[in-house]
Amino acid sequence: MTLPQPGIFALGTRSHHHLEFDLLPGRAPRDLLEALALLREPRKTTGGVNLVVGAAPSVWAEVAPHELPNGAADFEPVVGPDGFTMPATQHHAWLWIAGSDADVVFDVARSAVGALSAVASLADEVAGFSYLDSRDLTGFIDGTENPPLDEAADAALVAEGSPGASSSVALVQRWRHDLDAFHALPVAEQELVIGRSKTHSVELDDDAKPADAHISRVVIEDEQGEELEILRRSIPIGGMHDHGLEFVAFSADQRVLLRMLHRMTGTADGVRDHLTRFSTPLTGAFYVTPSVDALKAFAPADDD
Ligand code: HEM
Repeated sequence: MTLPQPGIFALGTRSHHHLEFDLLPGRAPRDLLEALALLREPRKTTGGVNLVVGAAPSVWAEVAPHELPNGAADFEPVVGPDGFTMPATQHHAWLWIAGSDADVVFDVARSAVGALSAVASLADEVAGFSYLDSRDLTGFIDGTENPPLDEAADAALVAEGSPGASSSVALVQRWRHDLDAFHALPVAEQELVIGRSKTHSVELDDDAKPADAHISRVVIEDEQGEELEILRRSIPIGGMHDHGLEFVAFSADQRVLLRMLHRMTGTADGVRDHLTRFSTPLTGAFYVTPSVDALKAFAPADDD
């Protein structure tokens, strides 16, 4: 069995940092993968900090196409029939650093930026924090319907025998919330936007749940009628002026993530996710997080 990056599944970390990098002019995508392979899982020195490493599908396509999961490609804007747009801000690499406290996460993030500086520049970053009992800043619990740990691998990891075995495709999409507008709604109306109750995250009855509720839009099925699951690891971000969600989700198949985005914009049926009236996507990128073995293949031979 090929080993996936364990940080994808690690729970219980309250401080997060997301970093996106652009390849420096004159450096090749292979240089980037070699530099990423040299980043150390930092738990040895700092205690409990997880590092997840990803590179753009186009980087894998150029350097190691056998590691590119079927259907994976760089993020393109998703535009709904009313013009609502999820913008593309694809970069070459992404690091997700998560730990118990902001100080250790900061140190690891800073040393990673330094370690990559000869090949890639920091293009975007955001710090995140867990809010109350795993709630989004809207006040709703985020993650209720995430697959439990023993099923998460099936949802998130490319199967053995397929290109990019044990890798995953991550969607990284920053959303800015208009909390004043959302919280101006009575709680019962907020619940219609999400499709779940606010306090305990109980799903609304089918006859009470609007077609444009968030969960009405993102629950999708395969041809056999089986629900298609993803592993969401989103985290609240921001300060008093600007705040929202760094939406992060892992899937074995990028097409599942894209279908959900198209459902949110109403591409096929014109029904736009009500949540998008209160939250705006600012960034959007896909990254392939390789298996530990696939990444190690780019480290120098004498490096253990
Ligand atoms: C502003 C951004 C977003 C917010 C605040 C948000 C919030 C939520 C909340 C509160 C829930 C219900 C509780 C739960 O099951 O976790 C939920 C469910 C879900 N969301 Fe989102 N979400 C956002 C964006 C997205 C995006 C971009 C996708 C897909 C690409 C997505 C996919 C899902 C899925 C699959 C579920 C579970 C549905 C179910 O099985 O019942 N969400 N989200």
